[in-house]
Amino acid sequence: MANEPIIEAQGLTKRYTVKKKTVEAVTDLTFQVARGELVAFLGPNGAGKSTSLRMLTTLIPPTSGTARVVGRDILRQSADVRARIGYVGQLTSGSFSQRVRDELLSQGAFYGMPSTAARLRADELIESLDLAPFATRSVQQLSGGQKRRLDIALGLMHAPPLIFLDEPSTGLDPQSRANLWQHILDLRRQHGTTVFLTTHYLEEADRYAERVMVMDRGRVIADDTATHLKADLAGDVLTLGFASEDDAQRAVPVVQGLTDREVRRDAASVTLTAPDGDRLLPETVRALDAAGLRVERATGVPPTLDDVFLTLTGRTLREAGEGEPDGPSTSSGTETAGSGDGPSTGSGTEATSAGTENTTGVRR
Ligand SMILES: Nc1ncnc2c1ncn2[C@@H]1O[C@H](COP(=O)(O)OP(=O)(O)OP(=O)(O)O)[C@@H](O)[C@H]1O
Ligand SMILES: [Mg+2]
Repeated sequence: MANEPIIEAQGLTKRYTVKKKTVEAVTDLTFQVARGELVAFLGPNGAGKSTSLRMLTTLIPPTSGTARVVGRDILRQSADVRARIGYVGQLTSGSFSQRVRDELLSQGAFYGMPSTAARLRADELIESLDLAPFATRSVQQLSGGQKRRLDIALGLMHAPPLIFLDEPSTGLDPQSRANLWQHILDLRRQHGTTVFLTTHYLEEADRYAERVMVMDRGRVIADDTATHLKADLAGDVLTLGFASEDDAQRAVPVVQGLTDREVRRDAASVTLTAPDGDRLLPETVRALDAAGLRVERATGVPPTLDDVFLTLTGRTLREAGEGEPDGPSTSSGTETAGSGDGPSTGSGTEATSAGTENTTGVRR
């Protein structure tokens, strides 16, 4: 059905047991993504982003919960899901001795693409991801950033309607990052591809994603456009400087009369955080002028997604890294395999599966 969400996750939860300790990597992940959306998944190290992607791409079975991806059930129809998605994992796969172009052609063949179409597609991707100078080199001769671009080309080879990218731009130089984003945006424009990606580059998510999901300790704690998140949860930081502390002190009630946000004084400055800073700043200066208080300096700094995270969690994303998710109150046994045609890695714990994960998640 055309209007059916392309991703529909319901209560996805993943628990690992490591040395008798239970770690809940993802808790009750419930959301939908419409066709053609570009969603960025943000969160500190260990938040559960990759685990979420790996469940949605059928690489690991959830401990509980369900999801439909491109209209197919991730547990009962995992092969169908895999055929219809692209996936570029966080870790590069590594040690191919094939040449770059041949690697792309093999990927096309794997997905059953006719060879002429595969050659055209490979050349298009080589061009747009700037792989031309290395197209005849073997994969192991590429630099980390070049290999990453190849990973992404591999994930896109069969032109899937939905692609999952786990930190696609990490390790790329600024020029390559910009090119990669251009390619992602072109994909959406030309083919309506749905893109679900994780990134640690907040400014990328802010600028390009139309929807940002923020994850912390295994849970989604915010889900909206970057603009709404920033306006609702952070706001512009306005700072007004005065000639003396006394002036600043007298300014506080005047400024407070214009906003319901808290107004603070620090030495000869007054600051507040407000969603509509562009309008409020000149209005504040006028009101202070009218009250006989001269503003010496005025600045308005727009919020970042890091400010949003700070408001939500009391930590910045940088401080939050590597925080272990809270263990659940009741511990369950060791994770066991999924059923049906579920992931082949699913026996016992998942600790060994990461090493075998290929960039596309299906060529294993
Ligand atoms: N195979 C595993 N066995 C045990 N614990 C795991 C396993 N994979 C992930 N975890 C734990 O689950 C939590 C979430 O990990 P995940 O890789 O999903 O985080 P992430 O948000 O992708 O982080 P990063 O930004 O560092 O990539 C972490 O505490 C991690 O240590
Ligand atoms: Mg990750």
